[in-house]
Amino acid sequence: MPALVLLGAQWGDEGKGKATDLLGGSVDYVVRYQGGNNAGHTVVVGDQKYALHLLPSGILSPGCTPVIGNGVVVDPAVLLSELSGLNARGIDTSKLLISGNAHLITPYHTTLDKVTERFLGKRKIGTTGRGIGPAYADKINRVGIRVQDIFDESILRQKVEAALDFKNQVLAKLYNRRAIAVEQVVEELLGYADQLSGFVADTTLLLNNAIDDGKVVLFEGGQGTLLDVDHGTYPFVTSSNPTAGGACTGTGVGPTKINRVIGILKAYTTRVGAGPFPTELLDEDGDKLRTIGGERGVTTGRDRRCGWFDAVIARYATRVNGLTDFFLTKLDVLTGWERIPVCVAYEIDGKRVDELPYSQTDFHHAKPIYETLPGWSEDITQAKSFDQLPKNAQKYVSALEEMSGAPISAIGVGPGRDETIQINSFL
Ligand code: GDP
Ligand code: IMO
Ligand code: MG
Repeated sequence: MPALVLLGAQWGDEGKGKATDLLGGSVDYVVRYQGGNNAGHTVVVGDQKYALHLLPSGILSPGCTPVIGNGVVVDPAVLLSELSGLNARGIDTSKLLISGNAHLITPYHTTLDKVTERFLGKRKIGTTGRGIGPAYADKINRVGIRVQDIFDESILRQKVEAALDFKNQVLAKLYNRRAIAVEQVVEELLGYADQLSGFVADTTLLLNNAIDDGKVVLFEGGQGTLLDVDHGTYPFVTSSNPTAGGACTGTGVGPTKINRVIGILKAYTTRVGAGPFPTELLDEDGDKLRTIGGERGVTTGRDRRCGWFDAVIARYATRVNGLTDFFLTKLDVLTGWERIPVCVAYEIDGKRVDELPYSQTDFHHAKPIYETLPGWSEDITQAKSFDQLPKNAQKYVSALEEMSGAPISAIGVGPGRDETIQINSFL
């Protein structure tokens, strides 16, 4: 089983960090393929808690080589501070590899992200303010700066000039902000060259060779399926492709080399930022999920919006990613509810709809049709096998599996590495 993708099946924060870390001990490479430090992946190892943003969660497993692929946008200041934070806690980060083709997030991207959101006012996306959208926009507009550019001062200066020519007009004339000096940006980026040079590699070649040699490669998605710029709830999405195809374009590994695609699926639903969310709960059940589930953003500290499980979304994730398995997380959070509603379909303008509507208007009008399942009150955090779960928890998992279209191969019953029920092996 040489290559597998692990990605978010909902709107992010499904528990990808924990799932990746769990597999980290058995894989040779963990590769981020898209997104940047908008991600917040929490990993709990024993009594230690780590919040990773840009680095692949495999960095915590000593035998594993963490890789930042070409599809990621890299804020070098964040990267270095994340590395030094881990070093200070005794984690060896020297094996990290970064694609020279990955694009950089510069201070002007972060500034533009924030001023654009302010400008949008009540139409804002609710971004993480990390410069993600503007950095990807420059990549697509062909005025981006890549990691490799910081090793050639003359190219770097030309590219920063080209990027700032237009942006400074926008900043000054539209947003009434001070222009950004080319020299200041060039100096800052050149200043990272020595610290980063040892990490930069031809990661595409290396990963393909690794797969051909039978090494196990795990592609770790950031964000989630519904935040995908093509397949998500556009425009309330991130600016990259967290879906499975992104693992190919974001690393240079072809689809025929990937054998397994695991969707991380929370036993209920959360979302951060603006946009439609049919099963959102604005009542005390929503507050209870938020409190018990600890649903507060790892990156921005914002409260997450919470709602019941949505099987329409899970089915959609199975379809657009070609999921082979689900990893169901946070089942323990649902302990204590007498009855648990699950959205099985939507009602849109008086009609029942079983699949995710492709029109934005319809999705905004979608009302959940619920089926209610019996809950359980027993503590499940110590359960080590499916049989050890209370009967109603087993029924809940089986019902979700049937509705979602792929087998549930693991169940999270707590944040720790060992608080997991493994049903089928991923490797
Ligand atoms: P990610 O962005 O997908 O990596 O997810 P986050 O780390 O942002 O949010 C998931 C949160 O749930 C983290 O605080 C995890 O430690 C926690 N978590 C993961 N799996 C489980 C689980 O099965 N049960 C509980 N109670 N917490 C979990
Ligand atoms: P992880 O990897 C949840 C959301 C933001 C916003 C939208 C666009 O931890 O699951 P961006 O800054 O990317 O331009 O913001 O996407 N968003 C996330 N929501 N989890 C994430 O990452 C997210 N990364 C971005 O809240 O709505
Ligand atoms: Mg997160």
